[in-house]
Amino acid sequence: MSQQSKTFIEFLNSEKNSLIQQDLKDLLLDVANSCKKISHAVHQGALANLLGSAGTGNIQGETQQKLDIFANELLLEDHAEKGKLAAMASEEMDSIYSIKEHLRGPYLLLFDPLDGSSNIDVNVSIGTIFSVLKSSSITNDPSEADFLQSGKNQVAAGYALYGPQTIFVLTLGHGVQMFTMDPQSQEFYLTQEDVQIPKDTKEFAINMSNMRHWAKPVSRYVSECLEGSTGPRQKDFNMRWIASMVADVHRILIRGGVFMYPWDQREPDKPGKLRLMYEANPMSLLVEQAGGVSINGQQRILDIQPSKLHERVSVMLGSANEVNLIMKYHQSN
Ligand code: AHG
Ligand code: MN
Ligand code: MN
Repeated sequence: MSQQSKTFIEFLNSEKNSLIQQDLKDLLLDVANSCKKISHAVHQGALANLLGSAGTGNIQGETQQKLDIFANELLLEDHAEKGKLAAMASEEMDSIYSIKEHLRGPYLLLFDPLDGSSNIDVNVSIGTIFSVLKSSSITNDPSEADFLQSGKNQVAAGYALYGPQTIFVLTLGHGVQMFTMDPQSQEFYLTQEDVQIPKDTKEFAINMSNMRHWAKPVSRYVSECLEGSTGPRQKDFNMRWIASMVADVHRILIRGGVFMYPWDQREPDKPGKLRLMYEANPMSLLVEQAGGVSINGQQRILDIQPSKLHERVSVMLGSANEVNLIMKYHQSN
C-alpha cells in the first residue's frame, strides 16, 4: 500500500470534509464496516453455506437468496443501536425499520443489501448500494412518508462492489471517491479521487433479450448504435451487460458508457424494473457527481418525487452526451 494513500477515516477527517457533520461521518464508517463483513461472507460463499436460494420471497415478488437475507440482517443489526438513524428501509423488507426511540438519530438509511442476486451463485461481481437522507422528524415516530424525498436530498450515497477487489465508492455531494480494501488489514484506502465519467463513449449496457418489449426511443437509440460506423452514429459500439447494476455502473464511472434498464411492455403498469429509492437514486447522485447524466427518459431521476418506498423507475445513465441524446429521442417521439 502506497504511503500516500489515505485510509477511509483519514479521508473523512480531511480538510475537504470539514463541513460534514461528525454523526454523518460516523454513520458512513459504520456502513463501510458492514460492507467489509458482507465482503468477507461473499468471499466465503459455499464455505459459509451462503449460496443458493433462501426459499422466501420479497415484496418485489423476487425469490430471496441466502446472501440477500444475510446482508440485510447484518446491515440492520450493525445500525440499529448506533444512535445515528431514525429508521432504515431496504429492498428486502416490505416496510420501514424504525429505530427504538431512545436510540434515534437524525438520518434515514436506505439500502439494496445485495445487488446482482442472479450473479451470486456464479461468482460474478455483486455489491451493496446505500443512500442517506436527513430525517424530517426525529421527535415523531418515523414513517414511510419521511423517506419519500427526491434523490437530490441525499446527503450521501454510494456502494460497495464485491469483485476481484472490494471497492467502496462514496459521494457526499461534492465529487466521487473510490476506496480499495486491503485484504490483509481489511482497511479501505483512497485509490481514486474526483472520478470523472468521459462525456462520450462507444459502449452501452442493456439486457438485449428484452428488445422486442422496448419503447420506440430506446429501440431507436440501440439500433443506431448497432448500425456502427456506416450508420447515423458513424462509429462502432461495444456492448457489456453484467446484470449487477453495481458492477455495470462501476464500469461507467471508471471508463464511461451508458447503462439502461428502461420501461418495457412486459409489465406495462410498472415504470421499470429497478427501484428508485435504493438503486436509481444513489447511483444517479454518484453519476451526476462524476459529471454524467441520469434520467428516466422524461426527467432527471434525482428530481422525481417518490410516492412509495418500493417505487420503480426507468433508468438511463452514464456519459453525458450519450444520455442527453437518449433524452432528445424521448422528447421528439
Ligand atoms: P437485485 O439483485 O438487487 O434484485 O437487482 C438486480 C437488478 C440489477 O442489479 C441488474 O441491473 C438487473 O437487475 C439485472 O436484470 P436482468 O436479470 O433482467 O438482466
Ligand atoms: Mn439491486
Ligand atoms: Mn438486491
